[in-house]
Amino acid sequence: MAGAFSANSLFNQAHAAEFEHINLQKKLLSPKELAMDEDYWSVIQQGYTVSPSMINLNNGGVCPSPRIVQEAVERFNKMSNEGPSYFMWRILDQGREPLRYKLAQLAGCDPEEIAINRNSTEALNTVIFGLNLKAGDEVIGTKQDYPNMINAWRQRASREGIVYTQLSFKYPIENDEEIVNAFEKAITPKTKIFHITHVVNWVGQIMPVKKLCALAKKHNIETIVDGAHSFGLMDFVSTHNGAIPAQAMQSAGQFSHPLVVRAKLEIASACHAHGKVPSHCVVTEFSDTNAMRAAAERAAQEFGFTRMWSIHPSQIRPILEALSPKVAEIELASEIVLAGFKAQWAPISHQGHLHDRASYRFYWQVLERAHSTGRHLAKEVLEFFIQTTGDSHA
Ligand SMILES: Cc1ncc(COP(=O)(O)O)c(C=O)c1O
Repeated sequence: MAGAFSANSLFNQAHAAEFEHINLQKKLLSPKELAMDEDYWSVIQQGYTVSPSMINLNNGGVCPSPRIVQEAVERFNKMSNEGPSYFMWRILDQGREPLRYKLAQLAGCDPEEIAINRNSTEALNTVIFGLNLKAGDEVIGTKQDYPNMINAWRQRASREGIVYTQLSFKYPIENDEEIVNAFEKAITPKTKIFHITHVVNWVGQIMPVKKLCALAKKHNIETIVDGAHSFGLMDFVSTHNGAIPAQAMQSAGQFSHPLVVRAKLEIASACHAHGKVPSHCVVTEFSDTNAMRAAAERAAQEFGFTRMWSIHPSQIRPILEALSPKVAEIELASEIVLAGFKAQWAPISHQGHLHDRASYRFYWQVLERAHSTGRHLAKEVLEFFIQTTGDSHA
């Protein structure tokens, strides 16, 4: 079973890689030349099962699935029915987290930020109906948003009295500022949400999502982006348009390229400012433990990350080692906290350095990290944890 499973996915990957290669070659052609390249389009056509006797112009609201997707759905449905508890819970469930990770890579975000839904309507309605809004709060969307979302907002407006404002645009608009200014003009002190359709399904207009999100952020407004037509089609990751070389995305280079360094520092400091735990991305060289350990140490010691994702079980120990305080750090923290405790948290001198509540707080956090990562702690220090949490980890 496992063999059939992986052979198939290997084939799909090889097929995708070949396709990517062809796409790269075709990039050199002008749109007109590409439109006339029948060999290229016949490969695409073969990837679908649409009826040859009908011209399908709706690839938005009801888009046909590629052949490979239809086959996968059929295969997994059949497999599930051959032994539901075994195949669904033991086999297919194992694929969920790796899938979440891959989706996050595609979206350029953290896997924790990905929730897998059955379709865009379900996902967007979950968010729209889940937001904590009260009567009088305002939402700004457009008349060209998708009808299911417009209806969801109208429902909240008539049930709960939120104010739903719809801007109207005459697309195509090539000047981003025209759209951004219209949104800005509609903001009032009660505006809580922008609802933006990234690629407008009626006309293909691409909305200036980045600029609208920045505008929203400036006014403390949350943004919902309907990415039904952009996810998977538009590149969310390479927003630097190739300015970051490939080495800067590998374990060593990622800590020295200024743009990547800036992103890391922004992520870590935003997390600390909002009481979140900054999690560093995975290191893709999964069999190189030294590269992995070095990356984890830099992430922890120079960039302020206190957690890190692993992509393989063998990475877990080195990550834990790198993110745990070192023996000398734990000893120093123990001495200072114990001395502060004896002095009833008054300032003390330790090895010629002044310590007060600010440094006690810091060294206490070192001890907390040591305790939660299972490091050895002296008996007197362990007693603090017994007193405060009733748990000794002894
Ligand atoms: C802009 C937009 N949003 C949302 C949807 C709904 O997508 P789904 O069919 O996945 O629920 C569509 C479908 O056409 C759409 O065009």
